[in-house]
Amino acid sequence: MANTLIDNFGRQHDYLRISLIERCNLRCTYCMPEEGIRLRDKSEFMTQEELIHLAKTFVDLGVRKIRLTGGEPLIKKDFAEILFQLGQLPVELAITTNGVLLDKYFPAMRKAGLKKLNISLDSLNEEKFNAISRRKNFKRIWKNINTAVREGFDVKINVVLMKNVNDNEIIDFIRLSKSAPLKIRFIEFMPFNGNEWDWTKTVRHSEIIDQVDKYYAQQYSQQNTKKNSTSKNYKINGFKGDFGIISTLTNPFCDGCNRIRLTADGKIKNCLFSSDETDLLTAFRNGEDIVPLIKSSIQSKHEKKAGIKTFRNDDDASIYNNNRSMTTIGG
Ligand code: GTP
Ligand code: 5AD
Ligand code: SF4
Repeated sequence: MANTLIDNFGRQHDYLRISLIERCNLRCTYCMPEEGIRLRDKSEFMTQEELIHLAKTFVDLGVRKIRLTGGEPLIKKDFAEILFQLGQLPVELAITTNGVLLDKYFPAMRKAGLKKLNISLDSLNEEKFNAISRRKNFKRIWKNINTAVREGFDVKINVVLMKNVNDNEIIDFIRLSKSAPLKIRFIEFMPFNGNEWDWTKTVRHSEIIDQVDKYYAQQYSQQNTKKNSTSKNYKINGFKGDFGIISTLTNPFCDGCNRIRLTADGKIKNCLFSSDETDLLTAFRNGEDIVPLIKSSIQSKHEKKAGIKTFRNDDDASIYNNNRSMTTIGG
């Protein structure tokens, strides 16, 4: 077990999320400020060679799944080449994308062996979606989702639910899973730097289930949940797909956490909510051995949510405001 990343709570970390780029071609209200984020010098970010080298080091330490995130991973210029090189490693590849540019990359994904596509879509209403994302890409994304399903990719749709914005679309989203093998996942709106979160905007796990109960009464069942899953999953009887709820705030799933993150500027985040980061890239550029740094980052991981006890609107805000904005973490 010397070469595996086990933390002080016995959790083995075999799932690496790599953020390829901080920028995004959308401006979703819950994720990014309207004006975008401060642009930084290219030299602050991993080159393709550095990224592949660091990824290989994690694989040597037992990582078996790599998810590419952003910002928006598909706006990275050398995305296809990075994907191809990662595809040579003994890992399962996955990506989380806003779906706008997918039409350009289906062949590259197939070539690299990537099957798992998580696509964010927060409304089925074009106007509303475009308002949330502050851009006009609904039609293209919708077309790409349909193509992805038709071509046999394993597609999850991520819906960040916000009170009085899109919580009236829960049943419409679930209906999408009737005739297509889609996995719909409702996500509790979480606090990050600059996203004006407060509890009144979060739609809780129990509120989602209340709506499902009203509409589908006894016609659905809970699925077995994998130990490392972020979501609790349910299926309406007879539907091809299913739906799940990711409730970091009201129903956290830290016990089975197997995730470690590498940011585009080469820092390890041992938890989505941790503001302590380990600068792997600088150490690597200085010729240091990075393995002890990775191991000690895992050793310092808190049991739950980076040690943040509660998320209230007032005094705790400073804790999560020290964290990066979501677009520079990648979820
Ligand atoms: P799968 O690998 O398909 O299970 O996807 P995933 O849930 O790991 O990834 P995705 O990028 O689709 O993220 C969906 C939602 O889950 C986003 O809102 C993420 O912020 C949240 N999420 C992903 N990983 C974690 C995590 O480690 N902790 C918490 N609390 N939330 C996470
Ligand atoms: N709360 C919950 N989920 C979020 N995401 C982005 N910002 C937030 C937030 N504040 C989701 C996106 C994407 C995934 C990577 O993270 O919808 O699907
Ligand atoms: Fe893991 Fe932190 Fe997410 Fe909990 S909040 S599941 S510890 S990354």
